[in-house]
Amino acid sequence: MNKTEELNTYCIQNSSEEAQYLRELRRETHLKTLRPQMLSGPLQGQLLKMLVQLFKPKNILEIGTFTGYATLCMASGLGLGAKIYTLELEEEYAYFHHKYFVLSGLSEHIECIYGDANAFVENTDLAFDFVFMDAGKKDYQSQFDLLLNKMNSGGMILADNVLWKGRVLEEKKDKMTSQIDEFNAYVQQHEAVENVILPIRDGINLIRVL
Ligand SMILES: C[S@@+](CC[C@H](N)C(=O)[O-])C[C@H]1O[C@@H](n2cnc3c(N)ncnc32)[C@H](O)[C@@H]1O
Repeated sequence: MNKTEELNTYCIQNSSEEAQYLRELRRETHLKTLRPQMLSGPLQGQLLKMLVQLFKPKNILEIGTFTGYATLCMASGLGLGAKIYTLELEEEYAYFHHKYFVLSGLSEHIECIYGDANAFVENTDLAFDFVFMDAGKKDYQSQFDLLLNKMNSGGMILADNVLWKGRVLEEKKDKMTSQIDEFNAYVQQHEAVENVILPIRDGINLIRVL
């Protein structure tokens, strides 16, 4: 383990304990999916839960459900009557959603919508207080632009993986890295928001709509 991994483990060990259903979901995701590293994990999950507790959103949008780990972390911080709409392209993950959304006792807060998130974001009439963007990185900028019109004032948009395993620092960036780097610069100069990038896990761009 290198120093960063050691510190990450230390932070997990000294943060509130992961719920049993999340531990089981994480384990089953590792056993049964090809890219388990896509799952948010305990540290980021606890942060998402606490941000939801702080901001008390009524409507959350998650773009990219995968097996539902972050969905459940956010749902566990929600108050009465609040809801998460979570978007996932691949119906093959529905097994995890059916099993763990019910097991957690949080399914009444969650609506999972299968299909392309971009079409949903473009066409929805819903307004959101809190958005977790965590699907195709090439879509971040267009989703961000569309979402700005659908956010309630003071709403938060969180974009995940914005440090792209440190590759944003490379001089010669591949296409995906350049798109993420351009997104970060675009947000930083956008007059409708203020933001801070948290160097947690793969980097979260925390964006507040003014
Ligand atoms: C990084 S994973 C999400 C992880 C999850 N938010 C978590 O923290 O546990 C990204 C997910 O986005 C989904 N996805 C990719 N492109 C999408 C699109 N255009 N519309 C909806 N979902 C998409 C992928 O199938 C994948 O399950």
